Amino acid sequence: MSKQDVLGNNAWKLTLQAQGWTCAVIDELSLLEAALLEGIRIPNSCRNGTCRTCMCKMLAGEIKYQIDWPGLSLEEKQEGWILPCVAQACSDVVLDVPAAVNVLEKT
Ligand code: FES
Repeated sequence: MSKQDVLGNNAWKLTLQAQGWTCAVIDELSLLEAALLEGIRIPNSCRNGTCRTCMCKMLAGEIKYQIDWPGLSLEEKQEGWILPCVAQACSDVVLDVPAAVNVLEKT
């Protein structure tokens, strides 16, 4: 369920399941941008939906894409693969990103 920020933007919750890390995602941000703002580094390169470096599995949630043709096949989409660099949340979202790093987490 979304909350609204002071500007009236929807704010969804992004969870990286394996690590248990969470962050808020407002409407205007991609999932990748929201994660990076919280110090969660999802592997990425082009940030425009072509290189597939950020490709990961969505375990739960709904997204929409900021571009018409993200670099995924129909089969990959049906299997739950997404490109978080060009994906916006339409609900709370749970991702599986084993290679993610939390640069703000203390060791
Ligand atoms: S960073 Fe290149 S497709 Fe997402």
